[in-house]
Amino acid sequence: MNSDRRKQNEPSSSRGRFSGRLGYVLAVAGSAVGLGNIWRFPYLAAKYDGGMFLLVYLLLTVTFGYVLIVSETALGRMTGKSPVGAFHTFGRTLPFHFGGWVNAVVPMLIVPYYCVIGGWVVKYLAEYIAGNKAVLAADDYFGGFIANSGSLLLWFALFAALVFLVVLGGVKSGVERVSKIMMPMLIVLALMVAAYSVTRPGAMEGVKYFLIPNLENFSWMTVVAAMGQMFYSLSIAMGVLYTYGSYIGKDVDIEKSTTEVEVFDTAIAILAGLMIIPAVFAFSGGDPDTLKAGPSLMFITLPKVFDSMGMGTAVGIVFFLLVLFAALTSAISLLETSVSSLCDELHISRPKACLIMVAVMAVVGGTSSLGYGVLDGVKLLGMAFLDFYDFLTNSIMMPMGAIATCVLVLKVVGFEKLQAEVELSSAFRRNRLYPVYQIYR
Ligand code: PHE
Repeated sequence: MNSDRRKQNEPSSSRGRFSGRLGYVLAVAGSAVGLGNIWRFPYLAAKYDGGMFLLVYLLLTVTFGYVLIVSETALGRMTGKSPVGAFHTFGRTLPFHFGGWVNAVVPMLIVPYYCVIGGWVVKYLAEYIAGNKAVLAADDYFGGFIANSGSLLLWFALFAALVFLVVLGGVKSGVERVSKIMMPMLIVLALMVAAYSVTRPGAMEGVKYFLIPNLENFSWMTVVAAMGQMFYSLSIAMGVLYTYGSYIGKDVDIEKSTTEVEVFDTAIAILAGLMIIPAVFAFSGGDPDTLKAGPSLMFITLPKVFDSMGMGTAVGIVFFLLVLFAALTSAISLLETSVSSLCDELHISRPKACLIMVAVMAVVGGTSSLGYGVLDGVKLLGMAFLDFYDFLTNSIMMPMGAIATCVLVLKVVGFEKLQAEVELSSAFRRNRLYPVYQIYR
């Protein structure tokens, strides 16, 4: 492509830019790989019958997930805007407002409870540093910890403060540099821990449970959970990819980058599954209650693994440190997207947008922290606050956001225009997936 044309097609110079394809892939991978892979994926897989969940998850990732990543990124690049602005480029009526805002609001609701879980990670890291590996491995430790509201608020506030500091203080590039080293380390350590877990006596049952689909276990809830997890893990349907797409040049190969991110993100999720699910069988005899433990699964299972291994304290420290970093890069991307949507759409300054987010954090994160302790008696649709926010965003709002993007591409922008955008810089081999979504026309 000649350079004049490239210049003309590039987003306006006032927007941030990635340094090229590598910078873009690292940023998207940093956003994608986080607690979703290590904490959320294993507990859902354990809860929704292992192999069946994994199969549905993989199928959805290479089809629907792929289509959405490419669409969001291409729409962001085409318009040079974050989600609300991108939808407004094509229309100003109610459906366009809705489509843009539903994508923009999701990260604002996720980041607070994400920081609560981030706080749990900091707490476990601190305990390993203090040498308390046996204490953490005790059966009722986690239950006691999350019931202690004061302490939970403190760890949440600590993690959230860290995220705000990075976003406000502009040390993001430093964090990205460190995460380039930490990510490969995370893979190596996860491989080691997974190898240890799957070779414990009794663990093979867990490996089978996780990897082999059992058709009898199919249920629509499995599909809903796997789809929500796919959105969550790949950072889809929450404006992030629109925003990142608006930062890339017309020469960045969207298809190749998408494939790399998908492979990397899924590999880490599977490794996390192999660390945690076989351990449930080896250390808790495959107890159905433990398998269905939900959000607490990683925090009750991994300490048992670390406690049983040589150098468990060192492994615990390094592991939780790496998870902390992965969580931090994802939380930064969530907060960054929220802040930039608020700045762009409400025409306010960054500090003001941060203040709004502090308020949202305090309410949503605060109630999430207290929901297992002093607010234990208050349930929303039968769920604790944190579980409710997770359900609301993943199972309700993200599917709406995703459908809005599909409708925008298929009914308004037109597939041909999207294809032309992608093909500015890459082959578009999986374009054959799109007509599948056009069947309903
Ligand atoms: N994908 C991240 C994870 O798996 C969560 C996230 C979602 C981060 C959206 C940024 C934006 O943990």
